[in-house]
Amino acid sequence: MTTSVPGADPTASAPTSGPTSVAAADEAHAVAIRFDSVRKEYAGSVAVDDLSLAVREGELLVLVGASGCGKSTTLRMANRLVEPTAGRIVLGDEDVTDVDPVALRRRIGYVIQNVGLFPHRTVAQNVATVPSLLGWDRRRTRDRVAELLTLVGLEPARYARRWPHELSGGERQRVGVARALATDPPVLLMDEPFGAVDPVGRARLQQEFSRLQRDLGTTVMMVTHDIDEAVRMADRVVVLSRGARVEQLASPLEVVARPATGTVADLVGRGRTARLLALGRLEPTDLDDAPRGDDGPGPGGAGPTVRLGAELGDVVTALTAAVDAPGGTSVGVLDESGRRVGTASAASVVRALHRLTAAGGGPA
Ligand SMILES: Nc1ncnc2c1ncn2[C@@H]1O[C@H](COP(=O)(O)OP(=O)(O)OP(=O)(O)O)[C@@H](O)[C@H]1O
Ligand SMILES: [Mg+2]
Repeated sequence: MTTSVPGADPTASAPTSGPTSVAAADEAHAVAIRFDSVRKEYAGSVAVDDLSLAVREGELLVLVGASGCGKSTTLRMANRLVEPTAGRIVLGDEDVTDVDPVALRRRIGYVIQNVGLFPHRTVAQNVATVPSLLGWDRRRTRDRVAELLTLVGLEPARYARRWPHELSGGERQRVGVARALATDPPVLLMDEPFGAVDPVGRARLQQEFSRLQRDLGTTVMMVTHDIDEAVRMADRVVVLSRGARVEQLASPLEVVARPATGTVADLVGRGRTARLLALGRLEPTDLDDAPRGDDGPGPGGAGPTVRLGAELGDVVTALTAAVDAPGGTSVGVLDESGRRVGTASAASVVRALHRLTAAGGGPA
């Protein structure tokens, strides 16, 4: 499946979205959902002004932005729970307005903000909603329900027969995620899917979900308020402002390292360095100057080491652990074959941070 509009630049209405390479890169990617100049007005207010956006096949695209900026409206237009006032939304190669809404919603999984479980159906029946509509046999449905409940951390024996009102908010949300995944839909829309889950359960769900999403190749549009969740899970992040205006559409590292606008900078500002340590990686140019003149392996010796390409945060951890060792202000750096290629010190981490945040630096 490829985008079929010649010359269309899906990011054209986003002049602040940073490097033109984003648009160029989209030509190389199959597009799963495309928003073309989409607008949604409610009486007296504009929820989505003029949104153009291409969601790549198989990617996890995260929408972040302030409350009321149009995130939920954007998602809900993709499965026709809300009809656009103007513009087009194309799923694969079909205009969604040409697809029967019920058929459309069977193809697109949807995790609703505030969950929306059916109150008079048990947990198992909720998860089995779409399989039942599709006429799966009882055994296949039961196995799938058990598999999904286990995946989201709800032991089937304890939870399958409960009613939604017998669950905590976080448990309800997890049932909502399981329900949306039931038939492995090719496209999944998720609106604050983990918002009510406690931090530990949330981190686990994020990880499990990301792994599953990559394994299945599901295309996901997900909304969150949590910038850390966004940068941890996303292949690309879209930062939206009022009217679903695209402030920046880029990789998590790019968004954190080089915010395109003041709005993005405000969003990632606090804790930015910590986020960069988690996202950035050690590169050869960050290493300390090695003595030259021979073909030796650089500063030799035992002691702690890190790999080239290690997370900067892990380099800091290794440096901290090394600090009490003799000469402990640096750690050895190994390449992928285990050969020692030099040393890294605190200055290396600073150089890496500088490299990542430098204006006009390479692709982050
Ligand atoms: N049915 C409606 N009728 C009138 N206005 C609406 C309707 N639904 C949404 N809006 C308005 O459209 C704007 C965007 O709403 P939307 O729900 O998309 O925001 P959001 O980004 O999802 O916010 P939040 O983060 O709080 O969930 C808001 O100003 C909201 O008040
Ligand atoms: Mg919302």
